[in-house]
Amino acid sequence: MPEIIPAIIAKDPEDLKNKIRLIEPYVAAVQLDVMDGIFVPNKTWKEPDDLEKIKTKLFFEVHLMIEKPQTVTERWLESKVKRIILHWEALEKIHGHEMTPYKTASRPGFPVIDLAEEAHRHNKELGVALNPNTPISTLDSFINDIDLVLLMSVNPGKAGQEFQEKVIPKIIALRQKYPDVKIEVDGGVNPQNAKKLAQAGANILVAGSAIFESGDVGKAIEELKQSLN
Ligand code: DX5
Repeated sequence: MPEIIPAIIAKDPEDLKNKIRLIEPYVAAVQLDVMDGIFVPNKTWKEPDDLEKIKTKLFFEVHLMIEKPQTVTERWLESKVKRIILHWEALEKIHGHEMTPYKTASRPGFPVIDLAEEAHRHNKELGVALNPNTPISTLDSFINDIDLVLLMSVNPGKAGQEFQEKVIPKIIALRQKYPDVKIEVDGGVNPQNAKKLAQAGANILVAGSAIFESGDVGKAIEELKQSLN
């Protein structure tokens, strides 16, 4: 049975705190969406230090939809988040031509492995997100070094978008190719498609508008859980 994780898109620390308080009675973990207005058009709250002021038992994961995520990983690793998810499409620029201040990768061209090692030194997890059009073959060179694959079922940048059905065969293929990988799916998840995603092989389902636009977050989370039976 997959875990349901609400996705919070916060404007500022106050908005973040209010949304955390809203959902914390119903779930064990939450995804914090961070957007820089460059990698994706929107900009959101983005300060890891703000989490220190929020007392909660929630497991935090942060989904960094930002350029050059390797330049802020350290700050997130030192915060309360337990899992950091970076976009391959942002890291690709290191693998390709763009020089970054990032220290030399342990294996030339594989900063993902360095980042995963860094996360593990902090007892935290590193996940890699793939946009709908990025093939799962991208993962082959580092799948055994990371802790989770986030398969985006929308193009990142905002909540409330239509689930892209073409991602279902991608989930199935990833599960077949790597039977033990932890698969998270994010974007357009709702009670009508959740069970299909679970059957395809998802371990974690991330939902934003299905929860926060519902008018009753407790009921909406319960409905998502029920839809998996
Ligand atoms: C999209 C974010 C998702 C989004 C989920 O950029 O990464 O987490 O907020 O919202 P829904 O579930 O409404 O697609």
